[in-house]
Amino acid sequence: MGYHAEYQQANTDPDAFWLDKAAALDWYKKPQTALAKDDNGIDRWFVDGELNTCHLALDIHVAQGHGDQTALIYDSPVTNTLQTFSYLQLRDTVAQFAGALRSLGVKKSDRVLIYLPMIPQAVIAMLACARLGAIHSVVFGGFAAQEIASRIDDAQPDVVLTASCGIEFDNAIAYKPIIEKALTLATHNVSHCVVYQREQLQAELTAGRDHDWQQLHDAASPTDCVSLNACDPLYILYTSGTTGKPKGVVRDNGGHAVALHYSMKAIYNMDAGDVFWAASDVGWVVGHSYIVYGPLLAGCTSVLYEGKPVRTPDAGAFWRVCEQHSVKTLFSAPTAFRAIKKEDTDGKLHQQYDLSALQYAFLAGERTDPPTYHWLAELLQKPVIDHWWQTETGWAIAANPLGIEALPCKPGSASVPSPGFNLSIVDDNGQPLPAGEAGNILVKQPLPPSCFPTLWNDFERYQQNYMSDFPGYYLTGDGGYIDDDGYVYVMGRVDDVINIAGHRFSTGEMEEVIASHDSVAECAVIGKRDELRGQVPLALVIIKDGVNEPALKDIPAEIISLAREKIGAVAYLREVVIVKRLPKTRSGKILRKVLRSIADGEAYQTPSTIDDPDSLEEIKQLLSTPG
Ligand code: COA
Ligand code: AMP
Repeated sequence: MGYHAEYQQANTDPDAFWLDKAAALDWYKKPQTALAKDDNGIDRWFVDGELNTCHLALDIHVAQGHGDQTALIYDSPVTNTLQTFSYLQLRDTVAQFAGALRSLGVKKSDRVLIYLPMIPQAVIAMLACARLGAIHSVVFGGFAAQEIASRIDDAQPDVVLTASCGIEFDNAIAYKPIIEKALTLATHNVSHCVVYQREQLQAELTAGRDHDWQQLHDAASPTDCVSLNACDPLYILYTSGTTGKPKGVVRDNGGHAVALHYSMKAIYNMDAGDVFWAASDVGWVVGHSYIVYGPLLAGCTSVLYEGKPVRTPDAGAFWRVCEQHSVKTLFSAPTAFRAIKKEDTDGKLHQQYDLSALQYAFLAGERTDPPTYHWLAELLQKPVIDHWWQTETGWAIAANPLGIEALPCKPGSASVPSPGFNLSIVDDNGQPLPAGEAGNILVKQPLPPSCFPTLWNDFERYQQNYMSDFPGYYLTGDGGYIDDDGYVYVMGRVDDVINIAGHRFSTGEMEEVIASHDSVAECAVIGKRDELRGQVPLALVIIKDGVNEPALKDIPAEIISLAREKIGAVAYLREVVIVKRLPKTRSGKILRKVLRSIADGEAYQTPSTIDDPDSLEEIKQLLSTPG
């Protein structure tokens, strides 16, 4: 069946389509029902099915005789380590660590917070939680203590899993002091903290609360998989919204397993035994879906890379990994390839490697700009595929479905909607727009399997943020258009979310942090175009009356440290400009779109609703003054 027929089938008879896909998995109790409404009136998948995601990712492959096949390759140029785990070894280690968690009292539905670098223990921890039916919540290593504390307070875990350090290029970053601070900042009390001691840096343990990972692991007895309902949550992954409070995206077990398993073939054209490498981080959704769950559900080998695209040791790092492990599909963010391009523009390092095993490069996290697309496609001489997705969906909303039918690629487009995603482009009043015209991108309900059924502890926010503006549709928060051939072009967020190096941040949250500085009267943060990171934040700040000249000079640096301390280094706030006023409409709304155009050096029209037109000229001058 070609793409159009498959897409059509998923839209016209989603029940039959997805029950058929579900049948490919080894359920404890096969679902008979595809879709049913839950108590909130939300569509849920496979409500009468029972399964365990860890069983599907590990045990079943061992049971089917593939125990010797490599499940995970840990490649860490920053520690000079290479370690492989067969399916049998990974299953046994995960079962053992699940036993360790159980010895701490962890059981089905308990939350476990994971703050770990890109080491096998991160994968083991996630799968061990899945094995017990505990709900993991992974926090990306670049986030600061306050961010972890707010997640602890929301998810209320009894156990935190961490390591003594992460390694960024050649810097060991001590994780334990960050966790200590988070535990102090959080109101919720965490009973146990399990620390994986790395040889690069040892952490101090607090008696009574802290446990040495290895000792706990060694003392435990292996534990079997727990049978779960398809709708039981597998994980919570916090992502940025438009305010300071992160949103806990909930992923269920059944729909997630079915969609991810399906996507591995349908989108990435991967078969059991193939090597898949998502060069991302387990702290982001890409890492959850395509470093951990997707490849293992499909019986593939997954690469876990603790390094960067450049300087570990050089811009040939990606190609070295692809050659060494015979990677078939590479998946990363455009920013990673822009970093490589900057350091190895004419691809000399690339030429040193044999990339005959590599068949495709997939990109996501932000739109692949056509220059990066062309550079990479020319360098690799293989299909380069931009695909669009979100934490909320867990897999690609639009992609080139290579395993169904390889369609021609169009630079700048994320190709076509994935089966199950019924897209519409509408204006702000909900009126459908014709092909080629940009507007809000919506997905018609029911959303396909793996899409989030709620936000943790906050169904109201789920309804309000995503489902209320256009009843019957999910508001993606992205804007773009669909062309005459049905290709989707995602042009950027229509809300206050920005994308820095493929990482999602809330300008609203940054504003809240900046406004907490004693001297700040008002501020606006906007995303400014950046050649490497796609976007970087720019803060425009009004200072309170009475702050004297010498103090004024230090304020930008203080704000930068504040953002680093409260949100984390990855938020990458480096530019703070003091202004006298901010351009607003007469009703007091900051004119962010115009500010973005000014920051990007683009032409703009002064809106007729502006309260103080001179403010624009002042900002334009300030932003064009070097330094
Ligand atoms: N733990 C702790 N700190 C981290 C971190 C982590 N996991 N990840 C990033 N940081 C820190 C960095 O050390 C840096 O700190 P510094 O200001 O003290 O130097 C800061 O956060 C900014 O990081 P980043 O923007 O990543 O800059 P970089 O110079 O370290 O690396 C790139 C630049 C382009 C190489 C890097 O951003 C990259 O590899 N991007 C790909 C992104 C990606 O994979 N996205 C996933 C979506 S698919
Ligand atoms: P995250 O939830 O962190 O994965 O970020 C999701 C957001 O990243 C989306 O809402 C988009 O704004 C952006 N994004 C991801 N992939 C793409 C893509 N291929 N093209 C355009 N934007 C993308």
